[in-house]
Amino acid sequence: MTDFPVTALRSVEIGTPDLSASIDFYTRVWGLEVVAEVGDKVFLAATGDDFHVLELKQSERSELRKISFRVRSVEDLADLFDKAVQAGCAVFRAPGPADAPSGGERFVIREPQGSVLEFVHGDRRKDARVVPNRVQRLAHVNINSADIEALSDFYRTVLGFRLTDRSKMMAFLSCNNDHHAVVLADAASHGLNHIAFLMPDLESVMRGSGLVIDKGYPIGWGVGRHGPGDNVFAYFIDPMGVVIEYTAEVLQVDASYRVKGPDEWVWPPGRTDHWGIAPPKSDACKKAQISIGFSGA
Ligand SMILES: [Fe+2]
Repeated sequence: MTDFPVTALRSVEIGTPDLSASIDFYTRVWGLEVVAEVGDKVFLAATGDDFHVLELKQSERSELRKISFRVRSVEDLADLFDKAVQAGCAVFRAPGPADAPSGGERFVIREPQGSVLEFVHGDRRKDARVVPNRVQRLAHVNINSADIEALSDFYRTVLGFRLTDRSKMMAFLSCNNDHHAVVLADAASHGLNHIAFLMPDLESVMRGSGLVIDKGYPIGWGVGRHGPGDNVFAYFIDPMGVVIEYTAEVLQVDASYRVKGPDEWVWPPGRTDHWGIAPPKSDACKKAQISIGFSGA
């Protein structure tokens, strides 16, 4: 087993130009629950043991404000902070007690390509439940990068992630047994590509997607099964233009997993998923995947 200082992708913070519309969508349509409101931030939970998986905050435009990762120990937290500073990251919060209701010790930095990253140890957890058709936790964030290799190098050498696969357009990075927690996508500019939420199983991706469609939000891409990571997917666009994914059955890997490169990750003509059933991605989805930037902390 590989030794990872970061043990999980915990949560993301999104800025939204219409906070109440976003809260309505993520609770009524997407299936999360509001667990706390502090100042101008709203914290939403899934059914797993994370206190929250999503933070929403009123902003001028839709934006990715922060990605939060859980760290194995306080020592690892200090070590990661030193490495991040040495790598040229801007420091927003030095290691200290978190002010979010999930608590714990944390630090916040901006990595060289502009995304804000939080690292937390000892945050509050809750009892996990498995509820059919309901999100359990985050599965991955997919980040657009105009220089994938530089950001991949940062995740690997500074944060201790491992590359699990590299297709022509994407690098897949893991920090536990999930095939990937972070994906880097080749793009003209840095930003958020999409956020994936883990469902209990394939049936829940299908039924959950049907419930989202019932409420007026069509699938942007899928349902299908991805190549790298082998996970089932259905992509949607939230009312503020953020692309989100229901996923399940993410491939579990360990140090023996053989990394495959761009020459091996090639689809037959016309195919974009393992099953060969996913219709072409909608133009709206393609556009939304390159429309969300990073904000300040
Ligand atoms: Fe994804």
